[in-house]
Amino acid sequence: MAMKVLFASSELAPFAKTGGLADVCGSLPKALLQWGVAPTLVLPLYRSVTEGGWGLELVIEGLPVVMGQSEFRTDIYRGWLTEEIPVFFVQRDEFFDRTYLYGTPKEDYFDNAQRFAFFSRAVIALGEALSIRWRIIHCHDWQTALIPLYLKAFYSNHPLFTRTKTIFTIHNLGYQGIFPAETFPLLGLPSRLFSSDILEFWGKINFLKGGIVSSDQVTTVSPTYAKEIQTPEFGYGLEEVLRARADELVGILNGVDYSEWDPEGDPHLVAHYSRDGLQGKRRCKEDLLKTFQLSQDLMERPLLGMVSRLAEQKGLDILCQVVDKLMAAGAGLVILGKGQQKYERLLVQLARRHPQQMGVRIAFDEPLAHKIEAGCDMFLMPSRYEPCGLSQIYSMKYGTIPIVRHTGGLADTVVEVNPKRGSGTGFKFSTYHPDALWEAIEKALSCFADKELWLRLVQQAMSQDFSWSRSARQYLKLYRRRRRG
Ligand code: ADP
Ligand code: GLC
Repeated sequence: MAMKVLFASSELAPFAKTGGLADVCGSLPKALLQWGVAPTLVLPLYRSVTEGGWGLELVIEGLPVVMGQSEFRTDIYRGWLTEEIPVFFVQRDEFFDRTYLYGTPKEDYFDNAQRFAFFSRAVIALGEALSIRWRIIHCHDWQTALIPLYLKAFYSNHPLFTRTKTIFTIHNLGYQGIFPAETFPLLGLPSRLFSSDILEFWGKINFLKGGIVSSDQVTTVSPTYAKEIQTPEFGYGLEEVLRARADELVGILNGVDYSEWDPEGDPHLVAHYSRDGLQGKRRCKEDLLKTFQLSQDLMERPLLGMVSRLAEQKGLDILCQVVDKLMAAGAGLVILGKGQQKYERLLVQLARRHPQQMGVRIAFDEPLAHKIEAGCDMFLMPSRYEPCGLSQIYSMKYGTIPIVRHTGGLADTVVEVNPKRGSGTGFKFSTYHPDALWEAIEKALSCFADKELWLRLVQQAMSQDFSWSRSARQYLKLYRRRRRG
């Protein structure tokens, strides 16, 4: 019989997305299905989902969700990721009928603790209502980190959940869900859990910590990041907590869904291309230059691109410091991003200074993200830290050579180019400093000038395979082990 896995997350492509979490939660379940897992997905019913025209079906009306002294009611809607993978949506308009997922560009929503505690509690209530003996509940990031706590506190003797194990995947330690102690009563958890070995963190509540200490298995999204987060530099204060669980902490590299990200059939592109037929890539570049109204002279010069959340993590401060040099070298630059206002403003200013060579679009724009992956020659990810990173994996498939910092999943997926041997798939630098980034860019620019070498690098990058099969099997192994454990 198929193994029943309840999969809870705050993002899921194509329904609701701000970053890679959505891509992973939308693609890993499809891969698991091939290995005999029956995944059931749960997501909040955000306004953007309601307005998305997904044809959702109301399947449960007024499901009670108990949060301490209060009882909330929720209607449950159902959609489908594929014909075989149902997605249940938890409705509660006061929490989720809002413009954004987590907050406005200025600040996080004030009640995020309550919103996602409610969601987490509702996931279990739904699991119960579906009357399925769940083998695994797989939770992702702080938004679902309380699920293992609710399960232990209220369901340890429930017949549907006695054998249920929890897996908690950390996609980004930079977001922990830290809230004031006064919020605790709203979570509906026993007060003993607000202790230094569980939820308490420097006098506050830390959702991520709760998930790390109380789930049966902890994973993160690349082997290198799994090591890094056990050190003070990357642990964001949780390194000790993670080290204490080192035996149950594994890094499993994210896979990607090539049915969504492949230049051979990508519906967002003006022309298609493959490793052995690259003509279409030039047409994509031409189209991209037009989209950003940049000089067509750039057809013969290197065009660099970036698609990113504009967050501290992504290395925008060092990137902005090399833009003038890059322009002086005659290259082009296109950036698509959304996020912190200071970076949005800075990038727009820089683009104004170089209107022929640099284009910036402040937006979340899925089709444009694909066009940039295809139309550029190089892709920039100078991240301060990067748990896995998917964009560099996509860029390799599109023959757009990544320039990345040697950290986390970027270290695990990109192989440094050796121009003499003609080997490698990208350019890397280690020190987080504009000079180090510039050195890597210069190396890339000089390799670009050698047409034969460049073609070889492009074809090598396009031959890499980061599809889910291997990584999904690693998750499956964990699911199996946890079942026995
Ligand atoms: P992260 O999850 O940290 O944001 P990843 O590289 O794992 O980084 O995933 C980023 C995903 O989000 C990619 O699918 C990328 O195309 C997408 N993305 C990021 N910013 C934008 C944007 N402004 N418009 C469209 N897609 C974006
Ligand atoms: C996070 C990380 C990113 C990772 C993604 C999916 O958003 O920042 O590196 O690829 O999650 O796991």
